[in-house]
Amino acid sequence: MNIGIDKIGFYTPKDYIDIVELAKARDVDPNKFTIGIGQDKQAVPRPYEDAVTMAASSADSILTEADKASLGLLIVGTESSVDESKSTAAFLMDLLELPEDIRSFEIKQACYGATAGLQTAYDFVSQNPDKKALVIATDIARYGIKTPGEVTQGAGSVAMIVSQNPRVLKLNYKSVYMTKNVGDFWRPTFSKTAFARGKYSNEIYVDFFKTLWEKYQTKYSATIDDFSTLLFHIPYTKMGTKALRTLEGKIPDDKYAELTEHYQQSIKFSREVGNLYTGSLYLGLLSYLINGARSGEELLMFSYGSGAVGELYSAEIQKDFASGIVSENVLKMLNERKKMSISDYEKIYQIEYQNGTIVDPEAVESKFYLSEIKDNERLYKKNK
Ligand code: CAA
Repeated sequence: MNIGIDKIGFYTPKDYIDIVELAKARDVDPNKFTIGIGQDKQAVPRPYEDAVTMAASSADSILTEADKASLGLLIVGTESSVDESKSTAAFLMDLLELPEDIRSFEIKQACYGATAGLQTAYDFVSQNPDKKALVIATDIARYGIKTPGEVTQGAGSVAMIVSQNPRVLKLNYKSVYMTKNVGDFWRPTFSKTAFARGKYSNEIYVDFFKTLWEKYQTKYSATIDDFSTLLFHIPYTKMGTKALRTLEGKIPDDKYAELTEHYQQSIKFSREVGNLYTGSLYLGLLSYLINGARSGEELLMFSYGSGAVGELYSAEIQKDFASGIVSENVLKMLNERKKMSISDYEKIYQIEYQNGTIVDPEAVESKFYLSEIKDNERLYKKNK
């Protein structure tokens, strides 16, 4: 049975900051941010947006009534969840008007969460072929104002429906993975912002990729010629570039040139949005599907979540992949965003809603929003 991604939806907030303006405000050479880090814009969520509202928006962009009726599983991968007990998935039940006879939960393992969700969804559909699973990656990446990690922030969500006979991507179920206890990135429960040993994280990420590629070749007698595209976890686009470069000189030059060209197509959206944490690999997939993919291509996908878990798996682009993504809507959303000044971004960044907050619906620009915090409980609404 063929199982994989049948549809992909995406959401990113309506405001962004320009990375050159950020560099100037931080007294940094803009080339460091645009070339050295590899980013152009960074999404800025409003205070009434969070992991729940963004997840609702990305899923809402693809779910039909027929999808809802056949859903058996909902998994949300996030490391910016709003509650230590209740899952983001439970909040979505009302917002998305989902039927109650589904299994739902949240997965956290840094940026690996969505991949864990996807592999779990594969197993679920293989056992329940008439059912579908909804896997959502949703995160707000925050390191703090004037920190080294500030340029690698971002926000957004990617939703994927997993089913049999998928239109977009068949998961080949060829996969290698590894876990190590590593202190490269962490966010204690008291902190809204992450702590990172950024350069160390880069080293571990590249080491994981090299180890997993060796393992993959051995396990499946594979060679680089089996793939035309490598997609990477891209919290900022230079990170994936570093992993790709480990192949330079080790594979034929024309193959390396092909992989590099396809990689450039896969990072277009990330350059525009920034870090989605666990959604980053899947934003790269969406970018590639819209900007360069051909049906029948074999992809190798590298997922990495600090702490650290890595997985390298293969997938095949399907004949009708374009019908499972609404390209016009994705491009419209990206193109219609508004640029925010660095000073406004700094002000918005500091706003933290407290118990008793009631949000003015007139000021809300997104479809789903945090409407109130009452008795420390977050309540959400959908704009009609
Ligand atoms: N023109 C062009 N390039 C320039 C330049 C200029 N004027 N000045 C500097 N550069 C280049 C540097 O040469 C360097 O390139 P290389 O990495 O290829 O050598 C690059 O710009 C960055 O320069 P620095 O290393 O000096 O920059 P920095 O000290 O400010 O740190 C960073 C950069 C480490 C990425 C930092 O932004 C950071 O720590 N970010 C957070 C990173 C992080 O958290 N990573 C975790 C990723 S894994 C993950 O996604 C986490 C998860 O699971 C949740």
